[in-house]
Amino acid sequence: MANRGARARMAVALGAGLTMLTLSPSAAPAADPAYGEYLSSECVACHRRDGQDKGIPPIIGWPRDQFIAVLQSYKTKDRQNQVMQTITGRLSDDDMAALAAFYGSLKPAN
Ligand code: HEC
Repeated sequence: MANRGARARMAVALGAGLTMLTLSPSAAPAADPAYGEYLSSECVACHRRDGQDKGIPPIIGWPRDQFIAVLQSYKTKDRQNQVMQTITGRLSDDDMAALAAFYGSLKPAN
């Protein structure tokens, strides 16, 4: 009898553990800099990671909200730039937040 009780408690504990596991991805912050770095592979062809301006504006070290707002303004076509409009058209809000987290964490090279 005692054994059965212990088993039942184990099952409950296991169930709770599984619930936490399945919930954790959505509970994690949406702005994941590592995911932003992954997405940035598309950006680095034009925007330099070291923040130097070689004809294309540098985008590192920006405040998060400003970065997202600018990307949104290309997506909604308030800002006129064909390339950036096309690129941001494929980005979700989470993608933009992740990119903002990643680029915001970069410091200019001296
Ligand atoms: C093919 C080249 C190209 C690629 C790829 C590209 N950009 Fe751009 N981006 C530009 C150009 C050119 C501008 C300046 C456009 C303008 O004058 O509005 C710009 C502007 C921006 C700006 C605004 C800069 C400012 O000072 O106002 C941000 C932010 C930005 N890009 C982010 C990104 C991100 C994030 C990615 C990757 C997901 C990306 N760009 C990919 C060419 C590119």
